[in-house]
Amino acid sequence: MTAKIISGTETAKAIREELKIEIAELKEKHNVVPGLVTILVGEDPASQSYVSAKNKTAHALGIHSEQVTLAADTSEQELLNLIEKYNNDDKIHGILVQLPLPKHINEAKVLYTINPDKDVDGFHPVNVGKMVLGEQCYLPCTPHGILELLTRSGVNTSGAEVVVIGRSNIVGKPISNLMLQKRDGGNATVTICHTRTKDMAAHTKRADIIIAAVGVPKMVTADMVKDGVVVIDVGVNRIGKTADGKAILAGDVDFDAVKEKAAAITPVPGGVGPMTITMLMKNTLQAAKQAAGLI
Ligand code: GUN
Repeated sequence: MTAKIISGTETAKAIREELKIEIAELKEKHNVVPGLVTILVGEDPASQSYVSAKNKTAHALGIHSEQVTLAADTSEQELLNLIEKYNNDDKIHGILVQLPLPKHINEAKVLYTINPDKDVDGFHPVNVGKMVLGEQCYLPCTPHGILELLTRSGVNTSGAEVVVIGRSNIVGKPISNLMLQKRDGGNATVTICHTRTKDMAAHTKRADIIIAAVGVPKMVTADMVKDGVVVIDVGVNRIGKTADGKAILAGDVDFDAVKEKAAAITPVPGGVGPMTITMLMKNTLQAAKQAAGLI
């Protein structure tokens, strides 16, 4: 069996077209332009490229976007003050602080400071709590993107054995929670594997759907999966550089080998990555509509 390739690039493109139309209508009918600020502390090349992609996409969709880059030695208080400024800025509906932050800054304190109504990343405990309870909230962008990819690819999750590899706050924990919820796109039986899991392959071999979010290049190999599995690869690992200095990327899954057994698989790049950015745009539009009292 050779897998169907689930293209995040194509799915994201289709959703962005829908968003572009909605954003233009919001401006025309209500004179509201969604506004997003991204805040990056330091010079991590991967974070720089993510933030610049987020701003570029926002701009292309008609979202007002501001990009703030702070020196790596910026104090925690300076960052908190900046967040407060944007909490009180009516032009800005969404605030995103790119993670990870330098070690001297308390990440939790920063995330708690963002007004939950502007927390388009869905990382504030109020939004995390609402997500767990299945209430209306901002869903975190990568898990939200994964749900959209599965749904739009026609993957049935109800009753499926889902194995999530990784227990991060950004991906592993929220996607596990979302997939077990009692609604369309959920209803799965979810197992979470992590660095202390004793026999990872014993779990992955049973899986109907594998979601790999560990940050270890090509960790999921063909012998770890069953025929007909659906594989969502969240890993973006920089494994080298091309002659002209571009990063060579690999996912957490050995794509070439696993695609021979899988029913469907996401590539890296061009899988989950574009979906994460697109869901951020969707959340920013939601924030603007909420602020205008339209939802
Ligand atoms: N770092 C890696 N993924 C994310 C994300 O989705 N949001 C933010 N703010 N930082 C990240």
